[in-house]
Amino acid sequence: MARNAWFETVAVAQRRAQKRLPAPVYSALLAGSEKGTTYADNTAAFSELGLAPRVADMSSERDLSVTVLGMDLAMPVLISPTGVQAVHPDGEVAVARAAANRGIAMSLSSFASKSVEEVGAVTDKLNYQVYWQGSRDTIAARLDRARAAGVKSIILTLDWSFSNGRDWGSPNIPEKLNLRAMAEFAPFAITKPAWLAEYLKRGTLPDLTVPNLVIGDEPAPTFFGAYGEWISTPPATWEDLAWLREQWDGPVMLKGITRVDDALRAVDAGMSAISVSNHGGNNLDSTPASIRLLPDIAAAVGDQIEVLLDGGIRRGSDVAKALALGAKAVMIGRAYLWGLAANGQGGVENVLDILRGGLDSAVLGLGHSSVRDLSPDDLWIPPGFTRRLGTHVG
Ligand SMILES: Cc1cc2nc3c(=O)[nH]c(=O)nc-3n(C[C@H](O)[C@H](O)[C@H](O)COP(=O)(O)O)c2cc1C
Repeated sequence: MARNAWFETVAVAQRRAQKRLPAPVYSALLAGSEKGTTYADNTAAFSELGLAPRVADMSSERDLSVTVLGMDLAMPVLISPTGVQAVHPDGEVAVARAAANRGIAMSLSSFASKSVEEVGAVTDKLNYQVYWQGSRDTIAARLDRARAAGVKSIILTLDWSFSNGRDWGSPNIPEKLNLRAMAEFAPFAITKPAWLAEYLKRGTLPDLTVPNLVIGDEPAPTFFGAYGEWISTPPATWEDLAWLREQWDGPVMLKGITRVDDALRAVDAGMSAISVSNHGGNNLDSTPASIRLLPDIAAAVGDQIEVLLDGGIRRGSDVAKALALGAKAVMIGRAYLWGLAANGQGGVENVLDILRGGLDSAVLGLGHSSVRDLSPDDLWIPPGFTRRLGTHVG
């Protein structure tokens, strides 16, 4: 572990991650498609919202806890699924341990580098994220595997439309870290000795396979092999969603909602939760920031479904703003990835402590004793801030 490993904000963790990671790995995390308009708006929109603090009659105790997807969480923050490789050798197991230690839920991507069994062994608050990939039988078999590993809820992510191309250049990620790829990758890796040392300490190199897409005794497919299966699967229909709903007797979240009409259809399809999300700005560039879309969606669905938000959360006050605008909880992506890259499990715990401290400070400053009391009255919302997509009001 590095000396002075503690960091005080997520921005510091990001700078450390950039210093520590090989350039292609860092840029795979940064992502953001095309011009990065959505990626930038996700964080910029939070800065446009003002807080309306009070000065007296404040509460000396605050309750940050919340129940989401049937799980009691110590604060309204969940780990969002990210299919990333080679950030840290302990990968999603380190993230899940940190989440468990801080009393929040882990969500594991089906493109993760660690198996659902390994992650299920360290947390009992586990969601498993699937894309619409493969035949119904294949999907059902993967759900069976997740159920056996102790997964409580399924997150179905449907907003990915295989957009590619970034104005700042996509990273060159090898299919496998064989000798040829290592030779190409070496100039990046040898300038990052701390990152490489974490792997070498464990006698391993990033293997770039996706263990959760295996059924039975097959070998794990490569990241790109699995991507091939996904891209050649016909996109899901609303009937497919209803079918998936029947396959899982616990909560199911639909992630990637941006439109009011889709949010209402998710209610009709029997979903337990939605996440208002644009995939962290990684997919269709020019989709508005998810926080701009939240108020109209939350108002339209009311309490028929749990509403979460992800995209752009970097501070505890961002969590407060999202809750004030109607989210029950938020999910974080890059914030914990920067922490993981900077300092493994301790770095993720550090990020969660930053968010908790910032949220507690906001709830205190806004004069509340519980996160459940946050409302639009706590904010200054600039005229024209919100965006409403989808015309059907229901
Ligand atoms: C590198 C990276 C990989 C991601 N992989 C997945 C994934 O496998 N499945 C998924 O549902 N979302 C994935 N996402 C999206 C996140 O779950 C989340 O929606 C997004 O990161 C939220 O924005 P934020 O990073 O600003 O917090 C990924 C995001 C990033 C940055």
